[in-house]
Amino acid sequence: MSDLLFSTVPEHVAIIMDGNGRWASARGLPRTMGHRKGVEAVRETVRAAGDVGIKYLTLFAFSSENWRRPETEVTDLLGLLKAFIRRDLAELHRQNVRIRVIGDRNNLRSDILPLLIEAEETTRANTALTLVIAFNYGSRDEIGRAVISLAKDVEAGRLRAQDITPALIDARLDTAGIPDPDLIIRTSGEERLSNFLLWQAAYSEFMFMPDYWPDFSRDLFLSALERYAARDRRFGGLSVKPAAAVGS
Ligand code: IPE
Ligand code: IPE
Ligand code: MG
Repeated sequence: MSDLLFSTVPEHVAIIMDGNGRWASARGLPRTMGHRKGVEAVRETVRAAGDVGIKYLTLFAFSSENWRRPETEVTDLLGLLKAFIRRDLAELHRQNVRIRVIGDRNNLRSDILPLLIEAEETTRANTALTLVIAFNYGSRDEIGRAVISLAKDVEAGRLRAQDITPALIDARLDTAGIPDPDLIIRTSGEERLSNFLLWQAAYSEFMFMPDYWPDFSRDLFLSALERYAARDRRFGGLSVKPAAAVGS
């Protein structure tokens, strides 16, 4: 790894893990095999993130719109998430990983919610990587819930409408306390956010990679981090990096 990468490791990387189904179809396999292989890519990515010193890794595991898929596929995806937590929680805890879950928890099936809570509770005091699992997550839903919560405070006289600031909105989102993502990666060649972290992505760097998620690897992750390190983030201000010479 180059010095460049080490000097600018993003604090927070968020990944839209896309392309499991196409990975499987390309091999004549059922979509569920792609999801299974995708879990291995998750393990490799979490380890690599910890190794390079990323502090927050958010993984888009299941969107609020993914319920539109056939029931069998939804069942497979939920089953894989449950199996991942059951099998990997002890190892993640051993690696000092803290788990946070974002997404709507209302009306979640009784076989999944307790597992998510157990994962958070068990790892609450860990201090290495924070692994943020976006499950039943959609940004518009998240923002909508935050607005309801603020409106209730205004209604009850606890808050004045004119005192609502971006920071106050931040604090009502599922991601409260988590810094905005520095880098958002999406695999599979699709170039869209699909309702992921719309508010939080205001100044994120985007990286769209052609590879399907099951093919994602430590090497692909490190190459994305290298490219990130060369980006010039200005946040509306002026560049702090020296301008590249013309033609270089
Ligand atoms: C990502 O792969 C996994 C989830 C969305 C849960 P997909 O299942 O979306 O795979 P493609 O995009 O259909 O190939
Ligand atoms: C986004 O992928 C959601 C996850 C990766 C969990 P989708 O495959 O659901 O997104 P669209 O439907 O192609 O936009
Ligand atoms: Mg997809």
